[in-house]
Amino acid sequence: MRTVNLIADLRQQVKAWRQQGQKIAFVPTMGNLHAGHLALVEQARQHADKVVVSIFVNPMQFGPDEDFDSYPRTLAVDSEKLEQVATDLLFVPPVAEIYPRGHGVASQVDVPEVSEGLCGASRPGHFTGVATVVAKLLNMVQPDYALFGEKDYQQLQVIRRMVADLCFPVEIISVPTLREADGLALSSRNGYLNVAERELAPKLYQALQTAVQGLVQGRRDYAALEQEGLDFLETAGFVPEYFSIRQAASLKLAEPGMTELVILAAAKLGKTRLIDNLACSLVE
Ligand code: PAJ
Repeated sequence: MRTVNLIADLRQQVKAWRQQGQKIAFVPTMGNLHAGHLALVEQARQHADKVVVSIFVNPMQFGPDEDFDSYPRTLAVDSEKLEQVATDLLFVPPVAEIYPRGHGVASQVDVPEVSEGLCGASRPGHFTGVATVVAKLLNMVQPDYALFGEKDYQQLQVIRRMVADLCFPVEIISVPTLREADGLALSSRNGYLNVAERELAPKLYQALQTAVQGLVQGRRDYAALEQEGLDFLETAGFVPEYFSIRQAASLKLAEPGMTELVILAAAKLGKTRLIDNLACSLVE
């Protein structure tokens, strides 16, 4: 695996591969890699000849009171893990390479509708930061495929919409959420949980499963199902932020007759904000 820090070096390598007719798959990350990230890299390998991974903790997608400074940076261990899953090229740009004039004054990409509500409501500017950095990275790497996890479901839909609206010549591939044995979705932020919080954390997934069961059994009282989810989380010791039943592709509020749904939830356990979601297909 080769590691580069500069856009020029990245472009040179990718150009050489393209000239040889190689297909390229790209996995953008913020590092502190776990098995969920590595599943993306392994999927990438199934689709293409060369796999490019980026590690960049993107300041533009963090709010002023969020964990940009404390976000775990573990490059040496991450590099070893990426070697083991046969990554070809690791791109680790410094902030000044991505935002030479500062991210506050950089051109930005806004994706309306799907960015609004859910995490977009509590993290203003977050999805603009995500869409902007992903647009830049896609322009730098120019991959045939880019892979994203369903764990960050709203992010996935924001990127799909951006790629469609702006005609990026890339195919977006989504990868199912990897979970611990007890159901907790793998996340770099799980490391912030103390022992007691870690024990409670799988209840977020349980709340989603209960709501899906309700839908599958024929319930269509979405507001009541959402309230039950919020109440369950609160009783369990979370501070819930949202628990919402949406149309899977548009993220519009669920309505009777819609068959492809996703339930999305965000909740805090102590200082740690956890998100998760579960899709369900209904037969009407
Ligand atoms: P990060 O949180 O590092 O996640 C990188 C990719 O890994 C995302 O596509 C995310 O959905 C996926 N992922 C995380 N946990 C997963 C799990 N348990 N199972 C499957 N996939 C999982 O998401 C970001 O970085 C950033 O916002 C980024 C897209 C890189 C832009 O800065």
